Amino acid sequence: MSLTERLNALAAELAAALQDVRDERTLEELRIAYLGRSGKITEIRRSIGKLPPQERPAAGKTINDAVVGLEEQLAAAERDLVRLRLEEDVERKVDVTLVNVPTSIGSFHPIRKTTEDACAYFEAHGFAVLLGPEVDTTRHNFDALNIPPEHPAREGFDSFYLRPDLLLRPHTSPMQIRAMEAYGPPIAIVVPGKCYRRDAVDARHLYQFNQIEGLMVGEGIHFGHLRGMLVGMCRELFGPNQQVRFRPSYFPFTEPSAEIDTTCPRCGGPSATALRADAQDDKVGTCSTCGGSGWIEIGGSGMVHPNVLRNVGYDPDEVSGWAFGCGIERLAMIRYGISDIREFIWNEPSFLEQLA
Ligand code: PHE
Repeated sequence: MSLTERLNALAAELAAALQDVRDERTLEELRIAYLGRSGKITEIRRSIGKLPPQERPAAGKTINDAVVGLEEQLAAAERDLVRLRLEEDVERKVDVTLVNVPTSIGSFHPIRKTTEDACAYFEAHGFAVLLGPEVDTTRHNFDALNIPPEHPAREGFDSFYLRPDLLLRPHTSPMQIRAMEAYGPPIAIVVPGKCYRRDAVDARHLYQFNQIEGLMVGEGIHFGHLRGMLVGMCRELFGPNQQVRFRPSYFPFTEPSAEIDTTCPRCGGPSATALRADAQDDKVGTCSTCGGSGWIEIGGSGMVHPNVLRNVGYDPDEVSGWAFGCGIERLAMIRYGISDIREFIWNEPSFLEQLA
């Protein structure tokens, strides 16, 4: 058999073998068997040594040409395998041509985001974040907060009672008592959490809502500290130009007491309103967020009442403190310009995505 005949036979043999190849591993085994270091081609190359020297170069070239042919056969077989894999995918109904449909990941609920941002601000200033029970006693919710049983303020809280002495907390203030009894003085805490009141649900009321309570008690703590922390919180939540003002108010557990207002971040507050009045802007007084006054109420506050300090065993002659309570839904409504509090419980995906 001549060299060419041997090589042709080898090519035919490989072609036949490739017919049955169904996987990459068998293909690789064939490549090694024919073209590998101790494969069939190498065997033929060795036989050249037996030829007369002048015939060897031509024989070497013939072999090299045959190797190119074998390599082409193997490459074609590899392409067939790739196509085979695709066809198998299609059979398994994997649509390899389907464009990647973008999926959206979730986002934080605006109430959670506002809660965490407010807490982070206080934590950065050395306050501890505490959580308390949503079911609490009348002692923590009222008595220890200087609201005795016959006090009219108790009615103002319209609570859900589980027993005469146990209720769903109508505010986060009971945690003032629990925290002061457990720690301090001195003490600096914020308490976010759910509260409950028997309110009819409308655009401004939910019977389950969230508050954030703040409390700081120690030697020489005064109203200025309260003001500073509230200004900082408002700037954190609403923007760097926020101002805070206090309006005299009444709570049994603080004296003096004050309602907290912050400048309206929508219209820029009363100074911005005044500027616009100069310019005779006909939109003056129509800001839907603040009603045109430039101020928005965000909560209640005051200096901790001496009776409250006494109730937890602190000496009001030694320590003083302040407390505040803000509705988190209210903060979030101001922050995101939302006019209906029920948006937070309807949770329309389009609403949540807009705020994400
Ligand atoms: N607990 C009061 C409320 O829910 C708010 C408040 C907290 C007022 C702390 C003063 C001090 O209305």
